[in-house]
Amino acid sequence: MASNFPHGRHRLRIVLAGGSGSVGSMLAWHFQEQGHHVTVLTRAPYTASWPTVHWDGAHPGPWVETLEGADVCINLSGRSIDCRYTAEHRRQLYDSRIGPTQLLHNVIANLAQPPRVWMNASAATIYRHALDRDMDEATGEIGGNEQIGEGIWRRRAPEKWGFIVHLVREWERVFFATATPRTRKIALRTSLVMSPQPGTVFAVLSRLARVGLGGTQGSGEQYVAWMHERDYARAIRFLIDHEEIEGPVNMASPHPLPNREFMAALRQAWNMPNGLPAPAPLLELSMFLLRKETELILKSRRVVPGKLLEAGFPFEFPAWAHAAEDLARQWRAADRGF
Ligand SMILES: NC(=O)c1ccc[n+]([C@@H]2O[C@H](COP(=O)([O-])OP(=O)(O)OC[C@H]3O[C@@H](n4cnc5c(N)ncnc54)[C@H](OP(=O)(O)O)[C@@H]3O)[C@@H](O)[C@H]2O)c1
Repeated sequence: MASNFPHGRHRLRIVLAGGSGSVGSMLAWHFQEQGHHVTVLTRAPYTASWPTVHWDGAHPGPWVETLEGADVCINLSGRSIDCRYTAEHRRQLYDSRIGPTQLLHNVIANLAQPPRVWMNASAATIYRHALDRDMDEATGEIGGNEQIGEGIWRRRAPEKWGFIVHLVREWERVFFATATPRTRKIALRTSLVMSPQPGTVFAVLSRLARVGLGGTQGSGEQYVAWMHERDYARAIRFLIDHEEIEGPVNMASPHPLPNREFMAALRQAWNMPNGLPAPAPLLELSMFLLRKETELILKSRRVVPGKLLEAGFPFEFPAWAHAAEDLARQWRAADRGF
């Protein structure tokens, strides 16, 4: 059952830990525009139209006060996944997610008036490489040891895919490990959040499309799970209000689609009918040179938002073609060039 948010208060106090990044800034703008009070916890405070408060993601400090009596805590902390999975980067990817989650646990457990809801970032890549059927929260299978390919090409999924699944599982395990009776917990199993801001996945893929390199990537059969940023922010509000929802929640549009169709719709949004394809070996080479991994592109994420749909969340952008058109229109309107 939906409810008005507790305390009968209209103006929410929302704390975004690790909220200086792309998702956090988008949420901060969204909630501030709606008249809510937003605070960002960051290792490097900066000037913004909301307060940014120092924390180190590892120790309690004066920042703890921001959570006392807050309505909502959303923790987005984590080193960017956009890197080569070297031993050192693996340690950073792990520590920057598990550490702040454990810290918030200790802090929230000791507050006189803890937030009523705590959402922690998680990732849609927790599910197995799936071409055959949709993965929702109830029936989706967690990945890590899956076999991929057909016939003589059948083999174990790359070790790096397993590493990321293991990382996300551990992140969620730590998040849910200790009960917080006064704080509802939601793990945001986030797909690619599509935003018309520079430096985002949408910006990178759009640039490829606009220079004629936006063809099918890999076999093109692998599914892309995505969510328009506006629906992401609206879904967060929906989850705040719907007190019956807890546990893992898939943050994805209802219609993931094969990469071939995904890239075609993106090209369409940029009026580029053709694009050079990037077969897997070429992708492996270029990503190696760019010091990135191909997991984000080649693993099939056929992830759907079971809980959001069941609760009646009204998506504004359920279909990628419409979302891509809207994002490209916003990009042009902001005159961002390439
Ligand atoms: N964007 C997506 O499409 C997507 C998809 C799936 C999952 N996710 C997950 O959602 C979260 C937010 O995504 P995003 O795209 O906004 O990420 P982002 O832009 O990389 O921002 C993450 C924030 O984490 C903080 N951080 C980094 N290392 C840290 C550390 N060692 N200790 C404490 N804080 C640290 C940084 O804040 P400061 O430097 O200010 O401290 C940074 O702004 C991430 O955990 C990401 O893995 C995102």
